[in-house]
Amino acid sequence: MGCFVIHFYIFVNTHRNLIMSETASFTLDGNKFEFPVITGTENEKAIDISKLRDQSGYITLDPGFKNTGATKSAITFLDGEKGILKYRGYKIEDLAEKSTFLEVAYLLIFGNLPSKEVLEQFRTDIKKQMMVHEDMKMFFSGFPSKSHPMGQLSCLVGALSAFYPESLNPNQSEEEEYKTIINLLGKMPTIVSWIQKKSLGHPVVYPKKDLGYIDNFMNMIFGEVNCDKIFDEAVLDAMRILLILHADHEQNCSTSTVRIVGSSNANLYASVSAGINALWGPLHGGANQAVIEMLEDIKNDGGDVEKYLAKAKDKNDPFRLMGFGHRVYKNFDPRAKIIKKACDDVLEKLGVEDPVLDIAKGLEKAALSDQYFIDRKLYPNVDFYSGIIYRALGFKSDMFTVLFALGRLPGWIAQWKEMRDNKEPIGRPRQVYTGETDRTYPDDTQR
Ligand code: ACO
Repeated sequence: MGCFVIHFYIFVNTHRNLIMSETASFTLDGNKFEFPVITGTENEKAIDISKLRDQSGYITLDPGFKNTGATKSAITFLDGEKGILKYRGYKIEDLAEKSTFLEVAYLLIFGNLPSKEVLEQFRTDIKKQMMVHEDMKMFFSGFPSKSHPMGQLSCLVGALSAFYPESLNPNQSEEEEYKTIINLLGKMPTIVSWIQKKSLGHPVVYPKKDLGYIDNFMNMIFGEVNCDKIFDEAVLDAMRILLILHADHEQNCSTSTVRIVGSSNANLYASVSAGINALWGPLHGGANQAVIEMLEDIKNDGGDVEKYLAKAKDKNDPFRLMGFGHRVYKNFDPRAKIIKKACDDVLEKLGVEDPVLDIAKGLEKAALSDQYFIDRKLYPNVDFYSGIIYRALGFKSDMFTVLFALGRLPGWIAQWKEMRDNKEPIGRPRQVYTGETDRTYPDDTQR
């Protein structure tokens, strides 16, 4: 095998008055290649290497895509170093304080905050679509009662396409696309509530005309057939905030999945169903379930918080504190700051007494003052507090990730729509092949 050296230099030339004149160049095997530098509206920079392979025969290798932008997007901006998150230019703090969830959904999907009239129409359209076809119940009866809610959710969302075959048309008109979007936004809370009821063996509660999106959802979850459940404002507000904070988070694992599946012209239901599966894992949406399970383990092991802090710091122990740290937020998670307050409010309002929640508070306090966590800038993330709130509200821990999916739905829809509106090409990464080369086919005696 030959050995060769690649010289790789990058020069960035800026000509201040000409936006497109910034370029990056590098030399490879004595040949110089030059690529445009793209600057986003928040001044983040990217080298556009889309012609790299055509020009040089090389590709880039970036496992986990830590340095790779897969798209240009106008939906969500986040700055992990500064702890900034904005949807369509609006700060998450303002939206969490002032908006309803459906207002935020409209903003993400259509680009602007709706007028009063448009919002009213949007709400009414969604409310009309909250009923789910009765035949969908057949699917439920087939699931084992202990099957994980995320598996059920992805299956049922995918199954919606069977009931709305018009959604399969990749060239849907804007009007048809709007109907599909409304349909999914309307039916998702109802499907989630069916999953909850199935796990309890209880009959489903239908959506009500006189309730809003969140109170309808909570009533379908916690109400009974002939007995509506009335919720404290603090509870409904915590749910509103949680759904808003989860509504989008740019090109994370599940969102990238939705975009890449949609890029093959797969319909919205199929694309979102794939996103739900991507969200399921404990390193992504499944972390909120993992947080509570970890807290329960600590409680069952005698409640010694310090012991688990020591385990988390021990490099020979694979244990990590679930709900601490974040791939992109390296100072603080702005969503965690907002949700911590809602969490304190709900716990106080409900007066919940729960040893697991006491352990959560103890762990939060101990980790925040521990040098290991301070040095590595490891703070509780949104999953830490969301898990605590969901538990205090009475959700079972395997429902937590489903609630994340309900919140993330507008973001998935917005990203799928943007990908279609921009007519993005089908997603098809490449690879560096490291397997066997030419082998002679062996007969049975040689294997
Ligand atoms: N507990 C203990 N130590 C940790 C933790 C943790 N939760 N997270 C990171 N560290 C340590 C690492 O061991 C490493 O230490 P070292 O520098 O001495 O080697 C250092 O902090 C940096 O860690 P990385 O793994 O490089 O951080 P990365 O950004 O790759 O990982 C991740 C981020 C996966 C979120 C990680 O912090 C983690 O596993 N957290 C727990 C799981 C979790 O809560 N996931 C939810 C993420 S949010 C979401 O998906 C919505």
